[in-house]
Amino acid sequence: MFRLETGALAVVAILSMGFSTARAQSGAHEGLGQMPPGAVTPFVQDTQGVLAPENANEARLNRLQPPDQVMDAIGIRPGMVGAEIGAGRGRYVVQLAVRVGERGKIYAEDIDADALRYLEGRCARWGLANVETIVGDVTDPKLPEGELDFIFVISAYHHFDDPVALLRNARASLKPDGMLAIGEWLRSTSPEKLEAEMNAAGYRLERTETFLEANGLYVYVFRIEDANH
Ligand SMILES: C[S@@+](CC[C@H](N)C(=O)[O-])C[C@H]1O[C@@H](n2cnc3c(N)ncnc32)[C@H](O)[C@@H]1O
Repeated sequence: MFRLETGALAVVAILSMGFSTARAQSGAHEGLGQMPPGAVTPFVQDTQGVLAPENANEARLNRLQPPDQVMDAIGIRPGMVGAEIGAGRGRYVVQLAVRVGERGKIYAEDIDADALRYLEGRCARWGLANVETIVGDVTDPKLPEGELDFIFVISAYHHFDDPVALLRNARASLKPDGMLAIGEWLRSTSPEKLEAEMNAAGYRLERTETFLEANGLYVYVFRIEDANH
């Protein structure tokens, strides 16, 4: 009897230890929605590792296009669901994915399947589980319909063969109040040309962020022209 009670007590103690550990772990993820812009979500073990540029070119580009400043300027917050079109090997995808956190999600789209395969390895290496890759067509990004808070494009607009068709086809993936944010080199596409093309694709310019002008780029925020699409 004595042995039975001792055994039962031990089982209860072990179970409650396990329960409080589980609660402590889930508590670490609570309240992400209240985190200020720029705060880093804690769901990736090695945040500095996953965000670090992987080569000298990524480091150079991140200096010219500081990810936290760009994401603050366009309003990327924990819990958002977004897509990067022309994501490449994911230099910015990892930034977006850590910022939106485990309650959010990032679709990484590109026409280059090899680059996306590399990105999948990059995410697996760091345990970044909120990224899904999509191989798109030249004029169809094949994003899920009506799901996105934002579409993001950086260092890629001038690579698109037909940006009007591509981003017109991307429109249906946005929620009615979703945004299209484009960071583009001034030397590659003038602000006037970019605005005219995105008007033709069905967006209206909400604002132009010029704080990186010295680095040679603007960041544009567009909304859907007719939200009843
Ligand atoms: C210079 S890379 C930029 C990658 C990433 N945005 C970055 O800043 O690290 C341009 C990317 O655009 C992609 N791209 C070109 N045309 C595209 C299209 N029509 N649809 C989607 N991606 C495209 C290329 O495959 C390439 O990965």
